[in-house]
This record gives sequence, C-alpha cells and structure tokens, in this order.
Amino acid sequence: MSAGARNSAPRAGFETPMPNPILLRRALILGTAAGLAAPAWLSPAIAQARTLRRTPGQTEGPFYPVEIPADNDADLLRNGQARYAKGQAVWLDGTVVDLDGKALTGATVEIWQCDVNGHYHHPGDGGKADPAFQGFGRTVVDRDGRYRFRTIRPVQYSSRTPHIHVKVKLDTAELLTTQLYVQGDPGNQRDFLWRRLNEADRAAITVPFGTAADGLKATFPIVVQA
Ligand SMILES: [Fe+2]
Repeated sequence: MSAGARNSAPRAGFETPMPNPILLRRALILGTAAGLAAPAWLSPAIAQARTLRRTPGQTEGPFYPVEIPADNDADLLRNGQARYAKGQAVWLDGTVVDLDGKALTGATVEIWQCDVNGHYHHPGDGGKADPAFQGFGRTVVDRDGRYRFRTIRPVQYSSRTPHIHVKVKLDTAELLTTQLYVQGDPGNQRDFLWRRLNEADRAAITVPFGTAADGLKATFPIVVQA
C-alpha cells in the first residue's frame, strides 16, 4: 500500500459517516459546478438531484414575426439607428440548461413583446408598433449557459397581463416556447393563460423585476429537455 493510500484510508475507530442531506446537497452543487467527480456513495443521490424541473411551455400567440427583422440582436431598445426611450428599461438575463443542469451552450434564445402602447411588429397588429422599438431579439447562449437582453418591462395590452414571449432553439429544433410574467403584477390573476398554470408552473415563469442602477433587472432561468 502506498503512503498516499494509507493516509486516505479510514482511521481505526471512525465509522464511515452517513451523509447529512444539507451537506450532501451542497457537495453536489459545488461538485457539479466545479466539474468534480463525486465519490461512489454519492452516485444514487446524484441521479435524483440532477433531474431538474422542465420550464413549462405556453402558447406562441399570434405575433411571432412573419419575417425575422434585419435588426434582431439582444438590444431591443435600439432598432437600426433609432433609440427607444419609452417604458421602463430592463436587463433580462438568465441561463439555459438541460435536465441534468448542463449549460446548453450554442442554443438560441428569442424574445418578442409589444411596445409600451401594446403593439407588436406584426401585420396582424395593424403595423402600429413604434419603429424605434425592436420588438424581437435573439442571442446565443454562452459557454456558461448564460444569455442577456436589453428591453422594457412588458406592459398590459387588451386582456393580457404583461408578458414577454420566449423561445429556445438548438439548431433547427424548437426546445421551448413560453411566456415570462412579472411577479406581483395585479393583471396576472385576471389573465386567462396565467390562471391556468398550477402553482409550480407559475413560479417557474413568473419572476421579480427588481431595481438596478440603470432601470430594472429580471432573471429567468430556463430548463429544457435537449
Ligand atoms: Fe403576447
């Protein structure tokens, strides 16, 4: 037996400790984050802990762009040369991971929403949207699984509570189409789509829009089956 093996062996009189559930969870999170291999006794627990809850889908609605606009980057407050200064500016960021918690690097996140007057860039909405508002944007998930947009806090229109439409694609596969809601907005309880969600699904796609130095900030973590 080598000196190293001898040092790592359990000392006489010490039993192998039973895993404390809190410490176990912490070890899993830290271990997974650091990409470390887990000890054999952790394996069954990992199999459970790694199955995340899938972000619920919602209808696409009638206003997904007929044609993807020329300016389709992640900054919806600048459309071509025009700047959009209406509404409340928001940094919307988050992560896209698979059911194992693995970053979905290279996936595309798309968002689309109406301007502050409740209009989409879509022929079905009469071409009334403000040309300075980009209304649709897309970005690619980075190697850490992160994405970020600059947009506005969504507003209510007709009978709908404020929401941002979100779609996730990987290559040509559409992995998720959903809608993101504003936590605490009084319109949520009256919205026919939001009301249909169970409590867990509401919690998954309804997030706080908190204050930031330059407007608001919202974080939407997304879990998809890849
Ligand atoms: Fe909508």
